[in-house]
Amino acid sequence: MTVKAWENQRVLVTGASSGIGAAIARDLAAQGATVGICARRTELLDTVLDDCRKTAPASRAWTIDLSDLDGLEAFVRRVEDELGGIDVLVNNAGVTLGGDALATPLAALEAQLRINYLSPVQLTLAALPAMRERGSGHVVVISSMAARTSTPGEAAYAAAKSALTSYFEALAGELWFEAVRFHLVYPALIGLDPDVDGDDELAESSTGEAHIPAPVMARAVRRQLERGDFELYVPRTMQDFVARRSRNVTKATEFMASLYRDGTLH
Ligand SMILES: NC(=O)c1ccc[n+]([C@@H]2O[C@H](COP(=O)([O-])OP(=O)(O)OC[C@H]3O[C@@H](n4cnc5c(N)ncnc54)[C@H](OP(=O)(O)O)[C@@H]3O)[C@@H](O)[C@H]2O)c1
Repeated sequence: MTVKAWENQRVLVTGASSGIGAAIARDLAAQGATVGICARRTELLDTVLDDCRKTAPASRAWTIDLSDLDGLEAFVRRVEDELGGIDVLVNNAGVTLGGDALATPLAALEAQLRINYLSPVQLTLAALPAMRERGSGHVVVISSMAARTSTPGEAAYAAAKSALTSYFEALAGELWFEAVRFHLVYPALIGLDPDVDGDDELAESSTGEAHIPAPVMARAVRRQLERGDFELYVPRTMQDFVARRSRNVTKATEFMASLYRDGTLH
């Protein structure tokens, strides 16, 4: 199942006060989708909402700390009530916190797991029943290349994104023959300035060393939904890198270790 007409879609984008989430919200609203956005920083959310409402007047925003897991079930019910339902859930909110494994206290690891893994899981579990009952729905998961490369210097982040990826691959497998579709996204380096855009070709052929502008990534995610693709690498060339890595993880780990030792990863 693919998304055909955005005018009929009600989309909840988490972490849409800045960066990738804001770009996805703006892009889908420009297609006419009614967008619900949420994050902690109300002022930034309001700016994004103003843009969305120019083309999608029924769009709404909610200020919420999504790492408060106990509140997420009630939050999804509220969004369903106020938007009239959720056709597409974009699990984007997250924190990118680097740090050597030996210097990361357990509390920081737990905090990353909460926002980068448990929160999108809980939101999805809360949104799925209505989607399954309706017989349609899409769940987007913004993971990270870190989940595929286990990057030295960001162990806690890579671990949380790996957990996220594994969970949603397994969940998608459980529901594969139902109507709800899952879409996993693996960004490499994304530039977060909303005023910097670029050619869509960057999402295809860029080598991954340069930042891909967030609006380019947002359009790539839209095309992923329109095509019904399960996986998206941004840029797409990263998929080959991941395939090569999986053929020889020892060699790939040694390669990353040498980059880490040389300071290239810092
Ligand atoms: N940029 C990259 O190169 C890159 C690469 C791979 C993956 N990613 C992933 O892309 C996603 C978006 O990140 P970004 O790069 O666009 O960075 P960003 O600009 O910092 O966006 C992160 C968003 O998540 C929200 N958020 C964080 N913690 C939250 C919380 N506890 N409750 C509610 N909202 C929260 C932030 O809003 P508030 O601060 O207002 O709450 C913000 O809107 C993340 O999942 C990140 O891991 C990014």
